[in-house]
Amino acid sequence: MFKLGMMGMRIANTEQAQAWNGYEGTHWADHHDRWNTVVSGINDELFAAAAIGQDAEVLDVGCGTGQTTRLAARTAHHGHATGVDLSGPMLVRARATAAEEGITNVRFEPGDAQVHPFPEGGFDVAISRGGIMFFADPAAAFANIGRALRPDGRLTFACLREMDRNDWFTVPLTALLGHKPEFSDSAPYAPGMFSLADPGRIRGVLSEAGFRDVRAVPVDTAMVYGSDAAAFILSTGPARFNLRDVDRSAIERARERLTTALRPYEESGTVRMHGAWWVVTATKA
Ligand SMILES: C[S@@+](CC[C@H](N)C(=O)[O-])C[C@H]1O[C@@H](n2cnc3c(N)ncnc32)[C@H](O)[C@@H]1O
Repeated sequence: MFKLGMMGMRIANTEQAQAWNGYEGTHWADHHDRWNTVVSGINDELFAAAAIGQDAEVLDVGCGTGQTTRLAARTAHHGHATGVDLSGPMLVRARATAAEEGITNVRFEPGDAQVHPFPEGGFDVAISRGGIMFFADPAAAFANIGRALRPDGRLTFACLREMDRNDWFTVPLTALLGHKPEFSDSAPYAPGMFSLADPGRIRGVLSEAGFRDVRAVPVDTAMVYGSDAAAFILSTGPARFNLRDVDRSAIERARERLTTALRPYEESGTVRMHGAWWVVTATKA
């Protein structure tokens, strides 16, 4: 089931569409360079696993501001890359950067990948850097992405491993909250950053969605927050959400705890923390 949203977009993931068209998406769009620095440590492993050919038609799912779509377009220089995302502000940034960089074999489409009417069999390979953990119905979403792939088409994505292995997330949030973030035992697979942390679930979801030869390889990267990391982290969606009901003095105390917590990770003015990912590959059955 889906509703028709902005620009006639089919929307099944209404809450995600609200978040990524609200503060969260605007923050990523306004700080696209900074966010790319945080997450781009996974690019080499993701692209090595995707093995994109120079003639390939590539789909980038949840492309955001489009760094990986642009990289895919450069690799598939006789082919084409299409980025799909449900965030209006991030797509505006994606189109602008591609134009600034003079990349012409790329396009960006608004869409909820769970229900988007992709051209059937239109792509050789689908990729995603962290854009596939937010589906309310992941099996339906991956089946829809599978329909967009040609027979034997390949899916390659990066998603996060368990929260406890991801310092870049737990250390700042623990400092801000004053206690360790808790993970919901009642809904461990709720849409969100860690919904595909369990490799058994990845295999189950992808098999149900019609993929075979599913492989999940653990990859560890540096997540580089850069300089002035505390101010940046405090401005992000998760920090704002967790501090939404607290007063000014409590925010000041949270800032102090955060600055102290980041210090051991700072070298020459740059904060680097640990990120734990799966790089997942699968083939359309
Ligand atoms: C963590 S950001 C990653 C963005 C981008 N892949 C990158 O690495 O910079 C997650 C992205 O997934 C997108 N997203 C979430 N749910 C989606 C859905 N159902 N369909 C399409 N995009 C979705 C968000 O709008 C956001 O751009």
